[in-house]
Amino acid sequence: MTTRVDVLLGAQWGDEGKGKVVDVITPGYSVIARFQGGPNAGHTLIFDGKKHVLHTIPSGIFREGVMNLVGNGVVIDPVIFLREVDALAKAGVDVRDRLLIGRRAHLILPTHRALDAASEADQGKEKIGSTLKGIGPTYMDKTGRNGFRIGDLERADMKDRYQVLVRKHERLLGLYNEAFDWKQHEAEWLDALERLKTYRFVDSEHWLDEQLNAGKKVLAEGAQGTLLDIDFGTYPFVTSSNTISAGACTGLGVAPSRIGRVIGIFKAYCTRVGSGPFPTELLEETGEQIRQAGREFGSTTGRPRRCGWLDLPALKYAVMINGVSELAMMKADVLSGMETIRVCTHYRVNGQLTDRLPYDITGTVEPVYTTVPGWGELSVNEALPNGLEAYIRTIEAATRVPVKLVSLGPDRAETLMREAAAATL
Ligand code: GDP
Ligand code: IMO
Ligand code: MG
Repeated sequence: MTTRVDVLLGAQWGDEGKGKVVDVITPGYSVIARFQGGPNAGHTLIFDGKKHVLHTIPSGIFREGVMNLVGNGVVIDPVIFLREVDALAKAGVDVRDRLLIGRRAHLILPTHRALDAASEADQGKEKIGSTLKGIGPTYMDKTGRNGFRIGDLERADMKDRYQVLVRKHERLLGLYNEAFDWKQHEAEWLDALERLKTYRFVDSEHWLDEQLNAGKKVLAEGAQGTLLDIDFGTYPFVTSSNTISAGACTGLGVAPSRIGRVIGIFKAYCTRVGSGPFPTELLEETGEQIRQAGREFGSTTGRPRRCGWLDLPALKYAVMINGVSELAMMKADVLSGMETIRVCTHYRVNGQLTDRLPYDITGTVEPVYTTVPGWGELSVNEALPNGLEAYIRTIEAATRVPVKLVSLGPDRAETLMREAAAATL
């Protein structure tokens, strides 16, 4: 009996609440596998009154009896990885027993971080607003066939390979005006590398194949969100990996025919951190109100997140690109108490109404809204109020996908499983 891999991913611009949902549904799985991104991600989990933020390690790590895999599509900074390991040890979790790392995953070098910083500084106002974790330069070396991989740590010539790459990076850094002193981070990075080597490396595509053939249930955990995808996001204001469901195939070595459910996570509104177009952005008081109520500050960088109304053309696009089979709606509680709520149903592009996300949304699309009644305080012990139920049905009708999970607060316990009303689909 072979099973399929379910995929959970962000349907907006990241920070939708993926970490929380993975943690909530992990008891139904034997394996949680991250398939792309790296320490640019910040996945927050809250339970038993404690908050944990994960960057590289999959969000199933707190559940006993579950194996967590860092797949080949992920990029790893050993220093950040070990900080996470140490924080987890303090929280009573021994990562060593529960974590495997794919040999094909690439490593982020201190020089990759310097190149990220140099490129951002060089672009000035045009900068991507990256997390400065070295993500772009590391994926550039991967596709440029120069990368340094986990499997290289087992080779005798590892140090030489590292040096060759560093020399290339030094030449590249020389092209920029500003100097970045990456050397000061090298000793810590090399020490972390030695510790990283003591973790369990696997040929993860074979390991996953065995798990699936043995009937084990696997959940692939995405990072970032669909609109940050390197191919289908708001390019160039995107990250450097495929954040979409197809990324789970390439980032884990799983065939498309083996993908099962695709769970799309979205907020009841929208946020974005970093530069780039955001049609429904609220630049006035309401945006600030949502930022404060939703504590919309980056889990990785602490930057304030830009806030705006729910964007249905963008959500429908995410449903299409990913083949989303069910949706999870997060942070409905943040909008509690608003008399009315606006939802963008269409864009006006060159005077024409459309519900499609066009090639370029920079300043060329005008969101068209519908206004719906709001709702009051929410509780997991009570039925959803009519206003929220109607809001969800509007989303289900537009996307033709059921909203099966509704999150009413950041804690693991503040979660409702919902039976979709079949008539709306
Ligand atoms: P991720 O990157 O998709 O895992 O999301 P982040 O952890 O970066 O950001 C989501 C933030 O919202 C975190 O601070 C969560 O604790 C919080 N959160 C998640 N779900 C809810 C919810 O339903 N309500 C509220 N108020 N906060 C939530
Ligand atoms: P999680 O997994 C939100 C954004 C950055 C920047 C752009 C490129 O927590 O949802 P990068 O460092 O990847 O080169 O930055 O992507 N970004 C995220 N925004 N959530 C994330 O991850 C993000 N990871 C990167 O702000 O705009
Ligand atoms: Mg996040």
